[in-house]
Amino acid sequence: MRLQAYLSRCGKGSRRRCEDLIVQGRVSVNGDVVDRQGFDVGEGDIVQLDGEEVHPVPYRYYILNKPKGWISVDRDPRGRPYVVDLIPGAREQGCFPVGRLDMDTTGLLIVTNDGSTANRIAHPRYGVAKTYTATIKGKGKANSIHTMEKGVRIDDGHIVRDVRIDDISEKDGHTMVRLTIHEGKRHVVKRMFRSIGLKLEELERNAIGSLEIAGLGFGEWREISLDGIERACPEQYDVEDHRS
Ligand code: URA
Repeated sequence: MRLQAYLSRCGKGSRRRCEDLIVQGRVSVNGDVVDRQGFDVGEGDIVQLDGEEVHPVPYRYYILNKPKGWISVDRDPRGRPYVVDLIPGAREQGCFPVGRLDMDTTGLLIVTNDGSTANRIAHPRYGVAKTYTATIKGKGKANSIHTMEKGVRIDDGHIVRDVRIDDISEKDGHTMVRLTIHEGKRHVVKRMFRSIGLKLEELERNAIGSLEIAGLGFGEWREISLDGIERACPEQYDVEDHRS
């Protein structure tokens, strides 16, 4: 098993984060620092992080309704609270959020210590559906909102395809748009709306695949099985990236 995958299996974070730990020279195998990628861990090898021996831990899976004001990245220089700490013990289990929600976004986050399942849910290659409700000030915007279904070019030139507008409703001078997309680029929903000239007032993620946030209040969470996640979050695309 690759060293970064092994570290992730030991609850040390996502594979991406474990790659960083390796490059930072914090990992050794059988007493020798390994600071390059591509190292394979064999049977009986002793792996240490910061001098402490690490061992595989059981996988855990949670769904959480993220409140506003909590962030999805650890070690914030401004000391803002980290979503994983809403689940007692999850940090010690090596859990991390699957993908990111902005500080002011609420809604469904999967939190786990299983790096490969996290990757399958978050990576655009697999196209797992993510459903959001976006709230905009003003009314009568339905026509331009529906144009996003043809694909939206965002500010870096990337085109977000496979956009489905599930519902548009209006209340108290606001428009609520429920939409489904299949990727998780940073600020992607805000950028999609910005590209058609609309600024979001609120954003909530309602579902990942058929896994819904319904029933959980802000900050509430529940544990779920791997089987439950796999059934709810089927891959939508072949492993070959159809957008290449
Ligand atoms: N898109 C955004 O703009 N923000 C989020 O938090 C998630 C998706």
